[in-house]
Amino acid sequence: MLKGKTIVLGVCGGIAAYKAAELVRLYIKAGAEVHVIMTSSAREFVTPLTFQALTGQPVHTELFNLYQEREIGHISLADRADLFVVAPATANLIGKMASGIADDMLSTTIMATRAPVLLAPAMNSNMWDNTLVQENLERLKRHGIRVMEPDTGFLACGWEGKGKLPDPAEICLETEALLRPSDLQGRQVLITAGGTREAIDPVRYIGNASSGKMGYALARAARQRGAEVVLISAPTALPVPRGVRRVEVTSAAQMFEAVMNHQASAHILIKAAAVADFRPLVAAGEKIKKRSGATKEIRLEATTDILRELGALKGDRILVGFAAETNDLLAHALTKLEEKNLDLIVANDVTAPGAGFDVETNRVLLIGRDGSAEELPCLPKLDVAHSIFDCIAGLRTGR
Ligand code: CTP
Repeated sequence: MLKGKTIVLGVCGGIAAYKAAELVRLYIKAGAEVHVIMTSSAREFVTPLTFQALTGQPVHTELFNLYQEREIGHISLADRADLFVVAPATANLIGKMASGIADDMLSTTIMATRAPVLLAPAMNSNMWDNTLVQENLERLKRHGIRVMEPDTGFLACGWEGKGKLPDPAEICLETEALLRPSDLQGRQVLITAGGTREAIDPVRYIGNASSGKMGYALARAARQRGAEVVLISAPTALPVPRGVRRVEVTSAAQMFEAVMNHQASAHILIKAAAVADFRPLVAAGEKIKKRSGATKEIRLEATTDILRELGALKGDRILVGFAAETNDLLAHALTKLEEKNLDLIVANDVTAPGAGFDVETNRVLLIGRDGSAEELPCLPKLDVAHSIFDCIAGLRTGR
């Protein structure tokens, strides 16, 4: 998404300034052109030469430097930016922006830009908690500036708390999010992900090949578009997407209970989880021993179809299901769309190359209740997720 984009990166004076070098590298790797503006304090921590070498562009430091102004003045830089990011953003810069002060190269260029702006603050935890800093940030948010919450952890100043600059890879993803629509602002989205596990005994279970990647991509995409997201997740190895609330479950029964506990407030419900259709009738209390002569057969009983239950409760909310198929994709997907009372079904042939479980991409067919169908090419799962939300936005407008 960042390919061909011009990113202006402001670097303020904080110990996290060194992490901005890694961020630049990620932007360049993604195909962006990067121009760095450093405040005078930032230059106490990192030299401009580092950024110049990484970007292949002159680094901007002085507002009234005749050479820099002739080469590419601050107004021209502000105009050329497709995206404007400040990482790390200090309390001082935040205070200046919130008060409309433009007294150096960075604050002046931000004032002059029409590009979307992302701030990644990093500071001592007491400074972060200071109500003036928080009020300033609220004011900036009201003016359309996007703010990333700092991470919590061990800070360079010796304190433990909130104030760490997020990982550069996370800032990079948030930068991409500036290019996405914010059409889910104020919406609550419930997503399920991963494959459930049905216990045979305390150490064995019946599972499936789902990695949870598609559901997690949906959660991240919904958050990027401004939604409040609850992700009900069966066991996966994936980290919680930033800003998403994860509820962990193991079995289909626990997923059912968690979905029922959280569904009432959701405007959009998406069931991407691979839920077991059957579970052992009895789960042994102790590990079944090889030699015990215990049952060689496992008797199964059906689990509740969670999506079908949601279909009965949905009202005028948007309900999206998945259909994982190995044959007769369209026919099976249409039956599920109808029988489970869905607005949209995301159908995929899990045997197709680049699709299905535990791969980074997916190839899906989106089928709407209105009979509309859209076949997407093989895309990274985050892009598939955004296409699903584009489709949902169409459904909402259609209503
Ligand atoms: N689903 C669910 N609860 C279940 C089984 C499935 O909520 N107990 C949901 C899945 O999350 C998915 C959709 O139903 O969104 C379709 O799941 P899928 O496994 O493709 O189909 P099933 O309905 O289980 O039917 P079949 O196994 O016969 O294909």
